[in-house]
Order: sequence, then structure tokens, then C-alpha cells
Amino acid sequence: MSKNVVIVGTQWGDEGKGKIVDLLTEEVAAVTRFQGGHNAGHTLVIKGNKTVLHLIPSGILHDNVECLIGNGVVISLSALISEATKLIESGIPVYDRLKISPGCPIILPSHEALDAAKEIKLASQAIGTTGRGIGPVYEDKVARRALRISDLLDTNKLATRLTETLEYHNFLLKNYYQVDELNFDEIYTTLIKQRQIVLPLISDVSRILEKHQLKGRNILFEGAQGVFLDIDHGTYPYVTSSNTVSAAASIGSGLGPKDLNHVLGIIKAYTTRVGSGPFPTELFDASGEHLGKVGVEFGATTGRPRRCGWFDAIAAKRSIRNSGISSLCVTKLDVLDGLSEIKVCTGYKLDGKKIDDFPLDISRLDDCEPVYKIFDGWESSTIGTTSYDQLPSNACHYLEWIEDELNISIDIISTGPDREQTIIKRNPFS
Ligand code: GDP
Ligand code: IMO
Ligand code: MG
Repeated sequence: MSKNVVIVGTQWGDEGKGKIVDLLTEEVAAVTRFQGGHNAGHTLVIKGNKTVLHLIPSGILHDNVECLIGNGVVISLSALISEATKLIESGIPVYDRLKISPGCPIILPSHEALDAAKEIKLASQAIGTTGRGIGPVYEDKVARRALRISDLLDTNKLATRLTETLEYHNFLLKNYYQVDELNFDEIYTTLIKQRQIVLPLISDVSRILEKHQLKGRNILFEGAQGVFLDIDHGTYPYVTSSNTVSAAASIGSGLGPKDLNHVLGIIKAYTTRVGSGPFPTELFDASGEHLGKVGVEFGATTGRPRRCGWFDAIAAKRSIRNSGISSLCVTKLDVLDGLSEIKVCTGYKLDGKKIDDFPLDISRLDDCEPVYKIFDGWESSTIGTTSYDQLPSNACHYLEWIEDELNISIDIISTGPDREQTIIKRNPFS
């Protein structure tokens, strides 16, 4: 029997999904991205060699594995080609391994211009987006205005669709945002060049997945961002513009939910967030500095410093529910090494009352004061530990408390950025 596993971020992104997808790729025939775009930054470290992927699935370094980009992903052709070119230069035959769904919306330069203009107009309320045009292209998708990868198949249709969409974008840019319009010829000429590279990659991703299923082969689904950046379940409006919860793996790939057998939630041993929005356990003290410095918490896409804070058990329970998480992988345990005490948020205080979930009005999450349980830290290093028995007893106590409190099993523990720096207690494919 084949087994399909969905990897999702359980916090605000950057939990270490890329590392775990790469690690588990040896179990599967295909790795599928199903939402988001090149706003993602997934880091893989193999024997000290670092690769950062944005759009290309994190299974790409493995031979004989198909890397699929499902219909739920939004694609900048320039970003795709430049990422592929770099990998090809380092010896990875990307175009032999990669397939793209005809249903993916295309990110145009005008989407990036709109993303920037919107952020400027929002001023102090800005979302802090990655500036990749993600919000505007998903708006176009829902408005049935987006160009899709399938529009590249016929140049006449491509020209007509681009004319219509760009007319609308330019109207907004000029009249609403008072910024420069974009030139049709430049965008069209670039698309025609990029089309030659992309045409051979266009495939029916849903059928490929079915074929693997029928042959009894395993599939891995690679989520981007994290549950609290989900457009429905996240800290709206400080979210991304796609559904990041596990259910999106079905919608964004064309394989129904009954075929998703296990959801592995990736969660840091603490919490980080990039961009604006509420973050109850955020730290502004020496412990926060420790997490940022030791964890090297800088965005893999924009290089911005990540905001750091303690583990939030209230938030984690919510994301386990929202994403139907079957088991957890706790990452960056080593970053807690050397802290004399470690805190975990077990409740919030709002208007003088204790609450045990997010408030109904999510904007009030900003006013929630965390209630902490304090754990003793550990002096010894956990970096690179590959066996649970070798962890300091206080680290085991911390992890086991999380398992009990969240009523979930921690199957994998990551103790360093490298593929090998991992404790696998239970393989989600077994
Ligand atoms: P993703 O977006 O979820 O794939 O995560 P990112 O790649 O954006 O950020 C995770 C960062 O932490 C990367 O720099 C990883 O190399 C690094 N990393 C992953 N797991 C560990 C770990 O267990 N320990 C340490 N110290 N770093 C890790
Ligand atoms: P990975 O897959 C962390 C954040 C941005 C911003 C908000 C909206 O690497 O975990 P967008 O450009 O999507 O419209 O920005 O979402 N964001 C991420 N934060 N990790 C990511 O991806 C993110 N992708 C988007 O910082 O706050
Ligand atoms: Mg990232």
C-alpha cells in the first residue's frame, strides 16, 4: 500500500519544512508543491552544502523522483527559470525531474508592482509581504482574471489574455496607486522567450499523482508558509493569500483528501515570524536575542530578521486542529541549548480573564498576554544528536511535556540544519 504524507508549517512559516521534505524524499516517487509561490524559502543543507529553494520542490536533489508543481501554486516564470538555472549549473538536471500543472496562475511583473504599491498605500498598516506579487495574483485567480500556465500553449490566446489583464493592472497602477504603468510589449516578449523553456514541463499533475498511487508508490506533499499565515485560519489580514493548511494539498494538486494518509506538522522548539502581525510570545530581551542569533533567524527569501519568541502551546493546539496534524517534527531543538530557562505559553490573559484559545476577533490577539510555564534548560549541546537517548534529560522532559499537552506524538526531532542532524523516532511512511 502506498502512503501519502503532507508536510505543513505549524506556526508562521520557516519551521524547517524544506529540510524535512528533502530528508523524507528518499521514501517517495514524487514531491508536490500545492500552494504559495516564490514567497517561500526552503533551506536544504547536505553535508554542509546549502541550497535555498523558493518554487522548485525540495525533492529536486534526489535522482528518480518527480518534482511536481500543482495547480495551487502561483508561478513567476522569471523566478522559476533563474532558480532552475542555478541548480542546473550545480549539476542537478531540473528539467528532467520537474512537471508543472497547466492550472497554475502566472505572476506578472504588474503583480509585483501592485504588491509594492499596495504596501506603500497601507503605510503603517503594511503586511510586510515578500513583495513577490503573491496577493495580487491570487486576487486575479479568484476574480477569474489570471493568466494560467495553460495560456502559454497558444500565443494568440496569450496575447489576448495579457492585453485584458494588463489593461486592468495598469488602470489600478495609474489611477488608484498613481505609479507608472507597465509596457505590454516588454512583458509579452519575455513571456514568449520563457514559454519555450516551460512548454515541455506542462503536465497533468493530478494524473501523474494517480499513476503513482496506482503503482503503489508513496507521494510527499510540500506545504509552504504555515497555518497562521493561512488566508482563512491565520492572523488575518497579516497572512499570505493562499490556504496553507493541509487540506490545500488536495485542492492544489488534484488528489482528493481520502488519499492524504498522514499530516506531519513541522514546528520549531520556539516561535518565529517575519513581517507584521500579532505574535503573543514575541521576545524583546536577551532570550529573544539568543534565539535570533543562535538560530540564525533571517528570512531565506528576503533576508529580513525574523521576530523570535517562546513556544506557544495554545497556538500549536489550534494548528494541529486546523491542519489535522497526525504527528509532529520539532526542529531547531539545538537553538535552546545553553538557555538557563525555557518558557512555554499555556494560556493568554485578555481583559483580565484567562483564555485558552485565540480570541474570536483575531485582531485582539495583539492584546493577549501570554501565561507561561517555565522549564529548566540544559547546559550540554544537542547539535547533531541522532538518537533520542543521547538528548539531555531536560530536553526530553521539554519534548515529552509538549507531547502530553498537545496530545500528539513527536516523530522527528531536528538537531541542526544538516540532513543528517536528525532524530527519527518514527518514520511517517512506516
Ligand atoms: P522552511 O521555510 O520551513 O523550509 O524553513 P527555512 O529554510 O526558511 O528556515 C529554517 C532555517 O533553519 C534554515 O536556515 C535551516 O537550514 C535551519 N534549520 C532547519 N532545521 C534546523 C535545526 O534543527 N537546527 C538548526 N540550528 N537550524 C535548522
Ligand atoms: P516559507 O515557505 C515566513 C509572510 C510574509 C508576510 C506575509 C504575506 O519559507 O515558510 P506574501 O508575500 O505571501 O503576500 O506575504 O506572509 N510569508 C512568510 N513568512 N515563511 C514563508 O514561507 C513566508 N511566505 C510569506 O513575511 O508577513
Ligand atoms: Mg522559509
